Amino acid sequence: MTTGITLQTLTLGPDGPTVPALGVGTWAWGDSLFWDYGKAYDDSDLQAAFQASLEAGLTLFDTAEVYGLGQSERLIGQFMKATGQTPAIATKYFPLPWRFSQQSVAAALTASLERLQVDAVALYQVHWPLDFFLGQKGLMQALATEVKRGRIGAIGVSNYSAQQMREAHGYLAAQGVPLAVNQVQYSLLHRNIETNGVLETARQLGVTILAYSPLAQGLLTGKYTPEANLKPAGARWLNPRFSESGLTKLMPLIQALQAIGETYDRTPAQVALNWLVAQGNVLPIPGAKNARQASQNAGALGWQMTTEEQEQLRGVAGQV
Ligand SMILES: NC(=O)c1ccc[n+]([C@@H]2O[C@H](COP(=O)([O-])OP(=O)(O)OC[C@H]3O[C@@H](n4cnc5c(N)ncnc54)[C@H](OP(=O)(O)O)[C@@H]3O)[C@@H](O)[C@H]2O)c1
Repeated sequence: MTTGITLQTLTLGPDGPTVPALGVGTWAWGDSLFWDYGKAYDDSDLQAAFQASLEAGLTLFDTAEVYGLGQSERLIGQFMKATGQTPAIATKYFPLPWRFSQQSVAAALTASLERLQVDAVALYQVHWPLDFFLGQKGLMQALATEVKRGRIGAIGVSNYSAQQMREAHGYLAAQGVPLAVNQVQYSLLHRNIETNGVLETARQLGVTILAYSPLAQGLLTGKYTPEANLKPAGARWLNPRFSESGLTKLMPLIQALQAIGETYDRTPAQVALNWLVAQGNVLPIPGAKNARQASQNAGALGWQMTTEEQEQLRGVAGQV
């Protein structure tokens, strides 16, 4: 870490790695299906984002075998090799219907490790709670085996409901291995996990929440406004929140983020991410496409808003 600022940290699950309380999301790294990789940003921007993240003290990168059909993992592998730096990597397994044996978990992990050019990852997550022939029990057994083999530091799930998380936790407990994380959508604009039992159950089970799309895919940065005439690149235009009326509706929240940001000399994005960190047991993983975004997002750590400010934001977010 080179900032000299003390960053909040979190331990993933009961005995996983301890990492800064903010990670780096890399879905857009190599993805031109949803994002606009190769047009609005290229590999040199992404390498700069990688470097800036590490310089700011962010050492957890979230990827997946499906991001850019392997390109996100490949790029991270190349950047690690080029810079000689080895941050903690969290990647994901996609339970495709034809992956019906425990051997397919091992094979998918082998392929991810090859793309990343490493022997092990800090965290391996099941991308979606899909149940085909292997079933949750077989899947969790295969993952526990990989922990024992030393190719995975900790196990996570993603998009699991409270009940599915309990089930996975139980199957893993039978193998003597904890469930470390559940990666779910969580931001000021998507607070379902506060009411559907996921947040509460995660706390009870000692499972850390990784908050994905924590900036609501750019909406909470405040740069998309009804006046700005800035069209979101990629497939985001399909989201009505990015329409002129959607953005108009959002403005009270952006203004509240700006007002709190002025108190601490922070941007709306930093305030929105700090709000998530303040919830406790929550680690946001904002996506960054360049060095500027990466270092700005890191500025969400190293300070703390008040409880009153947290509640104020929750109140305003509930109205938009
Ligand atoms: N498990 C899952 O099913 C799942 C699903 C979705 C995402 N994820 C993970 O979560 C990560 C983050 O989610 P996300 O990428 O969907 O959304 P996000 O983090 O809410 O938004 C990322 C986008 O916001 C903009 N941005 C980021 N930082 C900014 C800054 N400081 N200033 C201005 N603009 C900024 C960038 O887009 P522009 O510059 O183009 O506006 C960036 O691509 C992903 O990369 C992935 O690792 C997981």
